[in-house]
Amino acid sequence: MTAQTLPSSLYRDADAYAHERKRIFGRTWQFLGHESQIAAPGAYIATTLADFPLLAIRGKDNEIRAFHNVCRHRAGPLVDEGKGACQDFLTCRYHGWRYALDGRLASARDFGAAKDFDPRDFGLIKLQCQTWRGFIFANMDPDAAPLSELVAPLERAMAGIDFKQLVFTRHTTHPIKCNWKTYAENYLEGYHIPIVHPGLNAAVDTSRYEVDVEDNVAFHRAPPSDGAPVAGLWALLWPALAVNVYTNGIMMERICPVGHGQTRLDYMYFFQDGTSQLDVAKAVASSEVTTEEDVMITEAVQRNLDAGAYDIGRLSPRHEGAVAWFQDCVRRATA
Ligand code: FES
Repeated sequence: MTAQTLPSSLYRDADAYAHERKRIFGRTWQFLGHESQIAAPGAYIATTLADFPLLAIRGKDNEIRAFHNVCRHRAGPLVDEGKGACQDFLTCRYHGWRYALDGRLASARDFGAAKDFDPRDFGLIKLQCQTWRGFIFANMDPDAAPLSELVAPLERAMAGIDFKQLVFTRHTTHPIKCNWKTYAENYLEGYHIPIVHPGLNAAVDTSRYEVDVEDNVAFHRAPPSDGAPVAGLWALLWPALAVNVYTNGIMMERICPVGHGQTRLDYMYFFQDGTSQLDVAKAVASSEVTTEEDVMITEAVQRNLDAGAYDIGRLSPRHEGAVAWFQDCVRRATA
């Protein structure tokens, strides 16, 4: 792995982001939500990831499918971001074309008699859609390897953890003024914890803090202190989904680029049915404090990357192996 960091231009350049968007986010598994959030036919969840508007919807046959949230007529929007439900059709907000829940074009409202127009050619753009432990993922690349390959190391790491009936409990959003890689790299090392996160530092045994990489997953492991809400296992799935394991649930942390200099964090908490409000509040509170501290430091780093005095640095062989792995993944994916 390369010991040198990526050049700072890759963190402030709009063209670099445009390239990463297609070559990285357009070809990897993106987390959309949990199947319990769309339990009935017609229920959907929609979001925008790396400027790609995406949706997952449960069909009448109970299958969950994922599509671009884009009409095939003239690119109108189908549904708003968030969660919702429709009866039999997804209806475009622009001119009212209607799509069946499986993506077929059902009707092109008042379109007129066009000679060479076959509705079968204008179904929604379908994505690969697969689930892991009930969590829904989509991939724009029809040739991408199955999701099970990506999550295999995480599944092994969680072999002894079997949450019963996870329910969607809370979604918080945090905008950050930094490139998505600035935040992801911060997530990937524990080197800064004693300096930036005094609370987290007390919640885990940092002298036994370990970071290792297996295939396309980077793990942090640290034994939690007594009473800490964390389970001592954190993972980052390439490219930008952090899976934070608590003693009674999971927080899926989506690191979403919003342009080259903006990132949105989506924290989606899933706790076991019956988890007390107090336990939820404890887990949420500890992650919010850590996030505030991370936002402060990553925005400061981004300002310095933007300033242009710094270009290339060095990575610690002891603490920053996962950052080196991540940066190598970026190099390979964008070559
Ligand atoms: Fe959707 Fe026209 S863009 S109906």
